Amino acid sequence: MTQQQLRRQLLDARASVSNAARDYAALQVGEHLLQLPELQQPCQIGSYFSVKAELPTHAINQRLMAQAHQLSLPILHPFRAGHLLFMQLNQTTQWTHNRFGIPEPELDVRHVTPLNQLNVLLVPLVGFDALGNRMGMGGGFYDRTLSAWRQGKINVLPIGLAMDCQYVDTLPVQPWDVPLSMVITPSKVWDFRG
Ligand SMILES: Nc1ncnc2c1ncn2[C@@H]1O[C@H](COP(=O)(O)OP(=O)(O)OP(=O)(O)O)[C@@H](O)[C@H]1O
Ligand SMILES: [Mg+2]
Repeated sequence: MTQQQLRRQLLDARASVSNAARDYAALQVGEHLLQLPELQQPCQIGSYFSVKAELPTHAINQRLMAQAHQLSLPILHPFRAGHLLFMQLNQTTQWTHNRFGIPEPELDVRHVTPLNQLNVLLVPLVGFDALGNRMGMGGGFYDRTLSAWRQGKINVLPIGLAMDCQYVDTLPVQPWDVPLSMVITPSKVWDFRG
């Protein structure tokens, strides 16, 4: 199977989950997440605005903010193509849509959260494997975001959020692919750290 066929297959599996089951999965994932030792004090958390069949983050984001965590969401970088910028949410955050139709906070330099200030980064995914390898939508955005972390330049805890049907034993890995530290699904908290 080619990479593209595998992505299609995983996307189909993710899309075939009912909305009710997806929301319930998010509830369970949120429970696991909030219980992590790393989140027992207020953190700077990079999250995402879930679209389509991604593990829904709306309720999770609300709960994180209610627990006094600071939330930042990604926007497409205005001039570094293929890169993300994280914007800290506040009472006055204005929203827009990017060119993929994904809601994102408007760029406001006063509220940019540098990656090295994030303690935790919640990452959407299409599939993940037993070693924490991740398949995304194919844009390389999170691989670029996490390359500084892989090189040891910054310290952040990247956690994939997924449903159980997004697991495969082994994903094909390219040199630029950055494996995740953890993946949380309804049935399991996967910890890939040595
Ligand atoms: N650190 C990097 N520097 C330059 N190019 C990169 C980097 N990481 C990924 N890319 C490019 O991005 C493209 C897509 O990568 P890949 O197929 O791994 O996406 P993905 O991990 O599924 O997507 P995403 O992270 O956006 O969800 C590749 O062609 C690769 O060349
Ligand atoms: Mg990749």
